[in-house]
This record gives sequence, C-alpha cells and structure tokens, in this order.
Amino acid sequence: MSNQHAPQAGSRREFLKTSALAAAAAAPYFVPASAFGANAPSNRVTLGCIGVGNQGFPVMKRFLENDACQVLAVCDVNRGSSGYKDDKHVYGREPAREEVEGYYGKSSESGSYKGCEAYNDFRDILSRDDIDAVIIATPDHWHSTMTVQACKAGKDVYCEKPLGLTIGDQQAMVKAVRENDRILQTGSHERSNPNVRRLVDIVQSGALGEIKRVVCNVGRHNMISPGPGWKPMPVPDGFDYAMWLGPAPDAPYHKDRCLYRFRFNYDYAGGQVTNFGAHSLDMAQWALGMDKSGPVEVEHVYADFLPEGSLFNAATYTHFRCTYDNGVVLDCMTGVPEVRCIVEGTEGSVRVENQGRNFFTIAEGIKSDVCGSEVPDVYVSNDDHQRNFIDCVKSREEPAAPVEVGHRSATVCHLGNIALRLGTKVKWDPASEQIVDNKEASAFLNRPTNQSWNT
Ligand SMILES: NC(=O)c1ccc[n+]([C@@H]2O[C@H](COP(=O)([O-])OP(=O)(O)OC[C@H]3O[C@@H](n4cnc5c(N)ncnc54)[C@H](O)[C@@H]3O)[C@@H](O)[C@H]2O)c1
Repeated sequence: MSNQHAPQAGSRREFLKTSALAAAAAAPYFVPASAFGANAPSNRVTLGCIGVGNQGFPVMKRFLENDACQVLAVCDVNRGSSGYKDDKHVYGREPAREEVEGYYGKSSESGSYKGCEAYNDFRDILSRDDIDAVIIATPDHWHSTMTVQACKAGKDVYCEKPLGLTIGDQQAMVKAVRENDRILQTGSHERSNPNVRRLVDIVQSGALGEIKRVVCNVGRHNMISPGPGWKPMPVPDGFDYAMWLGPAPDAPYHKDRCLYRFRFNYDYAGGQVTNFGAHSLDMAQWALGMDKSGPVEVEHVYADFLPEGSLFNAATYTHFRCTYDNGVVLDCMTGVPEVRCIVEGTEGSVRVENQGRNFFTIAEGIKSDVCGSEVPDVYVSNDDHQRNFIDCVKSREEPAAPVEVGHRSATVCHLGNIALRLGTKVKWDPASEQIVDNKEASAFLNRPTNQSWNT
C-alpha cells in the first residue's frame, strides 16, 4: 500500500484546461482539435474503477467502449473470485485488470496492452494525479467516504445508487462535490432512459389532470439468509475483509455478509427499499417535480423481518406511504418489480414497466391533445448514462443525475426505512432536511462513524 494519500490540489483535467488556455493565449495561430483527433489519448478522461463486482464490472465495460475515456486503474478488496450474485461470474481486481488490458490490447498494434494497475486500497487511485475521475461501485456503506475523499483529491465521481447509506452521508457528499467544484453522476441510470423520460413528460404536460397518487414497487429479497445461530467463516485468501468493512461496525466474516448479499443488511445498505427504490422512487421524484424537495410525511404501513439473529436484518416485505405537501400520496411497496412506477391523475394514468431489459411506458385515459408535448423542463440526456458522465466531465455541465438529485431520491428511500424500522409515521421538513420532533427517528439520519474513516 502506498503512503501517498495526501489530497491533490486540482485535477489533471483542470491542469490540461489551464495549460491549453495559457498556450492558446501565447500561440499566434489556432491548431484545430481535429489535428490530434478529438479523442487522442491526451484528450481522454482517465478513470479509476473502485469496486469491480456485480455492477462495477459491467459498468467498467461500458466505459471501456467509450473512446473518450480510458481506464488506467481498477481497485477491489477482492483479488478475484466467484461468489457474487451469480456463481458463474468471477469478479474482483485481477479479472477486471485482465478485462481492461484485453480490451485495449485488441485495438493495439501488437495485440497486447499493459497499463492498467490493480489496487487493493482506493487511496492509491486517489493519489494518482494522472487520473481524472473515479467510478465507485462498492457497497453503499463506502460511497460517502470514498466520494468525499475523491472530491478532495480533485477527482470527478460516478457513484452508484443509492447515493449513500444515510441521509447524513449524502449531505456530506453534496457538500464535498460543491465545495470542490466536482462533477458527480449518480448511477441512477433510469435518468437516461427515454421510457422514463416519456413518463415524466406525460405527467408534467398535464395530460393526467391533477396528480393524485403514485405507486412505486421494490423487489423481494432474492437470496436466502443464514438463520439465527449462523457460524462465522474463515476469510478467504485474497479478500481484505477489514478493508471491505471499512467504516462499518466490526463483525465476524460470513460469505453472505459480503459479495452482493450486503444489500440485505442495514449496516451496509437499506434492503430492497434503497436497492430498487433508488430507481423507482427516483422516477416518482422526477415526475412529480420534487428534485429539490421531497415528501412531508412518511408512514409505516407494513414490514416483515426475518427472525432475530438472522444475518439479513433488512425488511423482506415492505409498504410505506409518503405524502407530499401538495396532497399527492405515494405508496412504495414490495410488489411486482416489473411495474416500476405508476402515476395516477384525475384524467388518466401512466406507468413504466420493464420486462426483462425492455422498458415500456403505458398510458391510459390521457387527453391526447396535451400528451407528447416534450415539455421543456424535461431534460434530455444522450440516453447513455455513462457517456453522459464523460461528456460532462469534459464540458463541466451538470450530468443527468447530479448529486442533489441522487440525494433527494435516496432520501425518500431512507425515510421509508426509518418509518418501517420504527413502525411509525415520520414528519420530514424538506427545506431544512430534518425530521420534525422525533429524536428516535432522527438518530437514523447519521450512523456512528468509525473514526479512522471519518470524513
Ligand atoms: N445502477 C444499478 O442498477 C445497480 C445495480 C446493481 C448494483 N448497484 C449498486 O452498485 C453497488 C455495488 O453493488 P454490487 O451488486 O455490484 O455488489 P458486489 O458485492 O457484487 O460488488 C461490490 C464490489 O466492491 C468491492 N469492495 C468492497 N469494499 C471495497 C473497498 N473498500 N475498496 C474496493 N472495493 C471494495 C467488493 O469486493 C465487490 O467486488 C451498490 O451500491 C449497489 O446498490 C447498482
């Protein structure tokens, strides 16, 4: 592990931009970018991928396909193994390095390429001043620490959804992005899905009349938990468990705590409420025009938990109800995950479904004279969430899912979990971002921080 972990002042990209401006001021003639190729190596956004598992590995491949960027490094506390969502998949830093070098090797003259470093410690990526941006696809309990440190080191960030483990974590992320003038894309890729944009367009065009109710679905647990009395296991060779835990509370190793299955334990994630909800509730927030706000009440309706002592402690079946200050009611429940989000108005309804990987927007009863207006407020990304991030790193424009959007959408998920865990109704002030008059619920806004990882 390198000891060069001091934050970097500014980024390579800013340096290149500044030097280019300085050169342009001094140069007596204009050299067109095409002379070097718009995506010449020196123009590419350089990347480090942190967490290359079930999601990080395929997302890394999307970045490889984009010749406007180049992956220079990967990082994972797992050297390489199966044991992810699907046992056929082998992920981790060495398989990721091989993937990167194999991909770039195919287009090199010699047919081989070396030039992707594989690290165990993400700070070794942050300390490299030749890396512009990082992709964070670790479990949720790491998102905030890594994002804050990356921003301080001058890196732009693509961070997987849900933005953070707690509302407090997310507030720290918003602050770090803005104070350090960084670009952050939340991995809520439905923001770049034309079918979801169509839903938002229909809702915001007024075609449904007055909006009354929204239904968002989240999936069921798709893995079986070790029950009460489960026994710790030896940590496998090549897996840095202490670094996997990081800011989480100390706990004995079990394979079902870590790869993929972390999402069912509240120390590392928020169950399917944050896993799926970061997509379906994000659609609702967008459609309702609540990207800078949120509900004012979140109420427990139903939650089912596994027996005390089970390794998975997140609710298995859930239903919570949010109320917005305009009277719109949103029911979020464990249901048919194919139906992601339904918006109902006085005149009709619209819903987004996904069957396999195919999305549909289905509208019923709408006023055809208003529908399809492509209202100007509904921004259009380029329908490729990863490419949109790279474009924005270059242009310094806001991406499709900036940090505040990821924060506000995941906040609804976190408030739902707080209401479900306490079996209560929580009042929320979206302006001050505080829970109103409820100390027990407010205690969930932040987690006890492991001081060695304090950001
Ligand atoms: N956008 C989507 O649709 C989508 C889909 C799936 C998962 N996700 C998100 O992606 C994230 C990862 O989920 P997953 O299913 O890929 O989990 P995973 O367990 O399969 O992968 C996470 C990887 O991070 C590694 N890791 C853990 N701690 C690390 C550290 N300190 N440094 C470096 N690497 C570390 C793990 O070893 C693992 O390889 C989660 O936040 C999840 O919500 C998003």
